[in-house]
Amino acid sequence: MSAVEIAQILREAIGLDAESIGQVALARAILDRQTACGLTDPQAYCARVRSSKDELQALVEAVVVPETWFFRDPGAFDAISAVVRHGALPMATEPLRLLSVPSSTGEEPYSMAMALLDAGVPSARFQVDAMDVSLLALERAAAAVYGRNSFRGAGALGRDHHFEPVPRGRRVCQRVRRQVRFRHGNLLACPFAPNRDRFDVIFCRNLLIYFDRATQDRAIELLSALLKPEGLLFVGSSEGGLALSHGYVSAKLPMAFAFRRPQPARPARATSWRPVLVAVPDRPRPQPAPAAAIASPAAVAADGSAPAVSLDDARSLAGQSRLDEAAALCDDHLRAHGPSADAYCLLGVVHDAGGRADEAEACYRKALYLDPRHEEAVTHLALLVERRGAADEAKVLWSRARRLAAGGAR
Ligand SMILES: C[S@@+](CC[C@H](N)C(=O)[O-])C[C@H]1O[C@@H](n2cnc3c(N)ncnc32)[C@H](O)[C@@H]1O
Repeated sequence: MSAVEIAQILREAIGLDAESIGQVALARAILDRQTACGLTDPQAYCARVRSSKDELQALVEAVVVPETWFFRDPGAFDAISAVVRHGALPMATEPLRLLSVPSSTGEEPYSMAMALLDAGVPSARFQVDAMDVSLLALERAAAAVYGRNSFRGAGALGRDHHFEPVPRGRRVCQRVRRQVRFRHGNLLACPFAPNRDRFDVIFCRNLLIYFDRATQDRAIELLSALLKPEGLLFVGSSEGGLALSHGYVSAKLPMAFAFRRPQPARPARATSWRPVLVAVPDRPRPQPAPAAAIASPAAVAADGSAPAVSLDDARSLAGQSRLDEAAALCDDHLRAHGPSADAYCLLGVVHDAGGRADEAEACYRKALYLDPRHEEAVTHLALLVERRGAADEAKVLWSRARRLAAGGAR
C-alpha cells in the first residue's frame, strides 16, 4: 500500500506517472531511500516523505531520469539558428528569450546558446533560462564539466570551440555559460510569472512522456501561458501529437519537432518577411483525428472501393512521429490522385524527419518542379541544403523563399 501512496505523492509533486518508469524501478528507488533513512517499515518511510521536504526531494532525485546530451535531436538546434538568422523571430527591440525546461544537467540549454552564438547572434541579444526539478542535475549543470556520454550522437561535431579541456572531461567555456541562467523549479508549480516571463522559444523535450494525460494537458497549458503568441514550442520526438491536440500547428521545420500557434491569415503582400513562422499560410485543416481514427494506408472501404486518401491524415501521422505510416499515405495519395506538389513536399518532410536526407531532397525538388511557387518546399529545401553545407545554393533558395513570402515573383 505504501508504494501506491508514494506513487501518488510523486504524481502530485512532480507529475510523475509511475508506469512511465516502471513499478520495479519505483520500488527500487523507494527501498534505497527507505534504507538510507535507516527505516525498516514502509509505512514509516511513507510518513517521512509526507512530513519532510528534504526527503521528498531526495526521493525525486532517485526517480527522475536525467538522460540528456549535447545537441540531442540536432534538427531543433538547426531550426533555432535558421529562424533567427533569417529573421523569423522578432528581435528588433527586446533580446530573444529562450527557455529550456527541463534542462537536466545543462547540455540542452548550453546547446541552445552555442547554436545561437554560432549563428552570429550577439550575446547581448539573447538569454537562455533553464529549469529542472533535480538539484543534483542543476549542480552538474552549474559545474558545466562533461564526459563522453554527453557527446554521444553527431550533433556536437564541429562545436569544439565552445569547450575547454579539464581533468575530468570538457568544460563549457565562459562565453556560453554566461548566456544561461539556471534555476531550481517544478514546471507544474508554475514558477515563472506568466505576464512577466514570456518566451520566444521554449524547449520542453522528453518530460511530457513521464506524465499521465491529465498532467500532460496541464503542462501544455502552463507552457502556453509562458510562450509569446508567435513563439515556438519544441517538444520531444514522440511528444508532437500532444502539441497538435492542443491546437498547435507544425512550424514546418524538418526534424525539429517544433510547433506554434496558428497565425492569422497574411495579407497578400506583406512588408516584412517571417519565413518559417508565418510565411507558409496554413491550409485550412481539421483537428487531427485521434490515432485510432486515422485509416491505415491499406484500409479498404466496406463496399470494396478504394480508400479515400487524405494528406491531412498523413500530416497528422507525421505530427505523431508515425513516419512510415505517413510516408505510405503520401505514396497512396500520389498513386490515387497523381503527382502533386503538396504530396511530394509532405513526403519530403517525412523523409527528412526520418533522417533520409537524399530522399527528402528529391521530394522537395519534385514539388518545386510541379509548383515552382511552393513556399513550404522552398523553405524546407533551403534548410536541408544549408544543413549539408551547400551555402551558395541555400542563399539562392532563401532569397527565393523571401520573395515568395512577400507575394512577389519567383
Ligand atoms: C530526460 S530529461 C530531459 C532533458 C532534456 N530536456 C532533453 O530532452 O535532453 C528529464 C528531466 O526532467 C526533469 N523533471 C521531471 N519532472 C519535472 C518537473 N515536474 N518539472 C521540472 N523538471 C522535471 C528531471 O529532473 C530530468 O532532469
